[in-house]
Amino acid sequence: MAGEMLIRLEAVTKNYPMGEVTVHALRQIDLQIAAGEFVVLLGPSGCGKTTTLNWIGGLDKPTSGRVVVQGEDIAHYDENQLTDYRRRKMGIIFQFFNLIPTLSAAENVEFALALSDGHNLRGKALDLLERIGLRDRADHFPSQLSGGEQQRVAIARALANDPRVLLCDEPTGNLDMNTGQQVLSAIRDLNRKEGTTVVFVTHNSAIAPLADRVVRLRDGAVERIE
Ligand SMILES: Nc1ncnc2c1ncn2[C@@H]1O[C@H](COP(=O)(O)OP(=O)(O)OP(=O)(O)O)[C@@H](O)[C@H]1O
Ligand SMILES: [Mg+2]
Repeated sequence: MAGEMLIRLEAVTKNYPMGEVTVHALRQIDLQIAAGEFVVLLGPSGCGKTTTLNWIGGLDKPTSGRVVVQGEDIAHYDENQLTDYRRRKMGIIFQFFNLIPTLSAAENVEFALALSDGHNLRGKALDLLERIGLRDRADHFPSQLSGGEQQRVAIARALANDPRVLLCDEPTGNLDMNTGQQVLSAIRDLNRKEGTTVVFVTHNSAIAPLADRVVRLRDGAVERIE
């Protein structure tokens, strides 16, 4: 069974040396995620959700342990390998949408497409906006979009490299309940219809019912998996 897992964290730790003492921020995280799963990492502020997500995204390196993605341990990749890894496999969205304000919705997506090469950037950007139901907002600038629409543009942008995995760090944390719901259903649809694996970080337990599996973190350790 373990061999079929898309993502495996094995005894992963993160320590921060702070002067004379060492902060053991995350202790022995073990976690497996299958291809196509929608996993929620749930827990209070400071429990280690972002750190765990960043290991999987190749944005941060653990102190020890293995982070195995499609059979390869990325924990020992150098910076160039990590950049390449992120470009090929990962889509990442954050709480604050991080769109470029001077570019329209379509241009924000085209910008990401240009990083992975290709022609017909406009056409591909419009296709991606179509997938998250925003084709008709393509020429709006971020300031002309609601928060939920901006986050959906950020999702379209994250999909530019056709990632196996979509990593979401509190993507609805900055949205009201209704707009948050739109963003959630866009992500859930991608997972159900296209099989994109989703790892979704939140402190909001109301999101848990959407998940195939909920991993509860507490004080830098896995408390329970439901
Ligand atoms: N650069 C650092 N130096 C020292 N400790 C750190 C550093 N970065 C993070 N930590 C500690 O690691 C722990 C986990 O942080 P992390 O950002 O993963 O939490 P989180 O669950 O995402 O919290 P939040 O919900 O507030 O975003 C925290 O206790 C934090 O104080
Ligand atoms: Mg966080």
